[in-house]
Amino acid sequence: PRKIIIDTDPGQDDAVAILLALASPDEMEVLGLTCVAGNVPLALTSKNARIVCELAGRPDVKVFAGCDRPLGRDLVTAEHVHGATGLNGPNLPDPTMPLQPDHAVDFLIDTLRAEPAGTVTLCPLGPLTNLAQAFRKAPDIVEKVQEIVLMGGAYFEVGNITPAAEFNIHVDPQAAEIVFRSGAPIVVMPLDVTHKALVTRPRNDAFRALGTPVGRAVAEMTDFFERFDKEKYGSAGAPLHDPCVTAYLIDPTLFSGRFVNVEIETQSELTMGMTVADWWGVTDRAPNAMFMGDVRADAFFALLTERLARL
Ligand code: BDR
Ligand code: CA
Repeated sequence: PRKIIIDTDPGQDDAVAILLALASPDEMEVLGLTCVAGNVPLALTSKNARIVCELAGRPDVKVFAGCDRPLGRDLVTAEHVHGATGLNGPNLPDPTMPLQPDHAVDFLIDTLRAEPAGTVTLCPLGPLTNLAQAFRKAPDIVEKVQEIVLMGGAYFEVGNITPAAEFNIHVDPQAAEIVFRSGAPIVVMPLDVTHKALVTRPRNDAFRALGTPVGRAVAEMTDFFERFDKEKYGSAGAPLHDPCVTAYLIDPTLFSGRFVNVEIETQSELTMGMTVADWWGVTDRAPNAMFMGDVRADAFFALLTERLARL
């Protein structure tokens, strides 16, 4: 299995991404979860991550708290999407497993330093603050990264937090710029993909029909989280953004895209955090990311449901 670190701000869709990873030990070994401020403040994301591990029956997973605010801007949160706790929907007990004492950035640095070059995959599901801090403090760790598979950005689908920008990149554009310029191999799951991975009614019913605490919780999470997209975009259900990242590690052929140059807007308030992807190759800027554009959604949901059944 690939060694992975999931950097996350749960978030119902983050929760499903984590559950999918923990259900797939043949494909990925989760070295730890590093939490960041994003959908809700850090105290809640680092609590929610532990709630999710306990739901999966995995109180042994190491969970670290990281940066509580973006590198250079005020924190923007998304309670309007995820609810006051970030994990509204199911009624899940408070965690009893501990938070690890180390800072997430130190865990990232120490873990990457201890591993051979090109062997650890990073899976960011929130703002890129923790990763950027780690790369800034310890540039030597970049070569240890096998791949960064992240949820963030948009091209044709443009924005969900501003007209021009996707939430994760908008919250910390400076951090995103550091990561996209790091030279590490990057795979991007933008809104162009995730807005095709919609939890329609039959897909939600399939989660519930698992008849397990995990299946029920995922059905209730996606029920809650779909209100926003249904009301806002007239979408057929909740977009399952972050699970695209962990699904990619199981079956990359679910996704298709282009290897292109991606630059991050860090100056203009109007378009702050926009991912300027050179989809049509109109510049001579060097490609730095595999920018996905499509997903085979039925196969994605079949895989997800089959894996969640294992928990
Ligand atoms: C991203 O922002 C968050 O609200 C979701 O968890 C996802 O990571 C979608 O724009
Ligand atoms: Ca997220």
